[in-house]
Amino acid sequence: MESQTETHRKQKKWLRLLLFPLPLQGHVSPMLQLANLLYSKGFSITIIHTCFIRSPKYPSNNPHFTFHSIPNGLSKSECSDADDLVALVSILNANCAPVAGLISDSTWEFTDSIAKSLQLPRFVLRTNNISSFLALAALALLQEKGYLPIQESQEEKPVIELPPLKVKDIPVFKTQDQEGLHQTIAALVEQTKSYTGLIWNSFEELEHGSLTDFRTIFRLLSQDQSAISWLNKQAPKSVIYVSFGSVANIEKSEFVEIAWGLANSEQPFLWVVRPGSVIGSEWLEPLPKGFMEEIKERGHIVKWAPQQEVLAHTAVGGFWTHSGWNSTLESICEGVPMICHPCFGDQRVNARYVSDVWRIGVHLESKVDRFEIANVVRKLLVEAEGHEIRDRILQFKKMANQSTQQQGSSYRSLESLVSLILSSQSQRKL
Ligand code: UDX
Repeated sequence: MESQTETHRKQKKWLRLLLFPLPLQGHVSPMLQLANLLYSKGFSITIIHTCFIRSPKYPSNNPHFTFHSIPNGLSKSECSDADDLVALVSILNANCAPVAGLISDSTWEFTDSIAKSLQLPRFVLRTNNISSFLALAALALLQEKGYLPIQESQEEKPVIELPPLKVKDIPVFKTQDQEGLHQTIAALVEQTKSYTGLIWNSFEELEHGSLTDFRTIFRLLSQDQSAISWLNKQAPKSVIYVSFGSVANIEKSEFVEIAWGLANSEQPFLWVVRPGSVIGSEWLEPLPKGFMEEIKERGHIVKWAPQQEVLAHTAVGGFWTHSGWNSTLESICEGVPMICHPCFGDQRVNARYVSDVWRIGVHLESKVDRFEIANVVRKLLVEAEGHEIRDRILQFKKMANQSTQQQGSSYRSLESLVSLILSSQSQRKL
């Protein structure tokens, strides 16, 4: 009859243990004895070794273990002939220590927790191309939009969200466990945000557009510090900072109106245009011809700015925002009055509170229009109404600072949270 351990092993209920003996006889033997005990309890055993003193037979005598050797910079004879054991141990420790990082296939999700627990940087290799990864990452959205499961009659139709793909090109997989597949893909996509580095099996010129999309979607844009050096040259409170966060996209026609509105306002502007955020364009192609030449040094456009540093800069006098909540709070904390231009979701509610309840911004409610934009920008930066709004938001800035001081409301909330965690921890121990 099959033992319980064998049953567990077959049911894959066992876990793998890594054992790392020092390559000295008196250390290897007890470690292997321990390994056998643990094996008898159902664990799988992997032995990491550098070299084995006098008995290279350990692996062949223990076929039920997996053995992996790692280099230690010494030959086997140097290991076994060593007469100064203290020096040997010290050399082995020094030679085995430098591990620069882990490079894993992207599908090995579990290596994420290993790398984190060892505090190792984790790089992943994606063996497929960027375009197909973007399609894979969009599967949940495509399902929500009704493309999946694929109907035969729809196969030739274009996937509007992923040009130039047709419905029949959507990267579906045959499996009994569609739910499990979706979870695996969701985990892969989520993990993309936590790698130290990502290595594509492709090259930039081949998939330039997809790489740009990838960087936009996964927010891998680096902050352009030229925003700060440009601000350093501007007069105090003179600049309108324009950014619509990390998700919102706009139509080409709106983009052109914004450009002319900023130009006509005659105020300096710092504008964040995320690559791909103008629908149907890679970056600035829809800008009117000669636009940058006309505005000269009065305007500066970047792909991604160090926003909090920008809002804290003395040259910034207003923030034209899509009213995402982070942007709104950051603006309040720096006392920068806002022009609210919500795009979707909570942004609409935020904008209404900013303009009508807290009265720390102007609501751009009408259709995006160059004349309206120029008026609103001037109202905020130059006119008396703008000064009143600034005075009010500076009061909010003060309140935000006070709330984090000792005995302030946020300070007290944090204290309560810490006591709650500690008391629930001690109740668990009782
Ligand atoms: C999303 C939703 O769109 C928003 O409605 C919701 O309130 C929060 O989640 P997002 O659109 O990215 O957020 O906007 P927001 O919440 O304002 O966050 C943007 C973040 O990106 C801010 O922390 C901002 O500092 C940062 N940012 C933006 C930069 O660091 N640089 C930039 O150039 C632009």
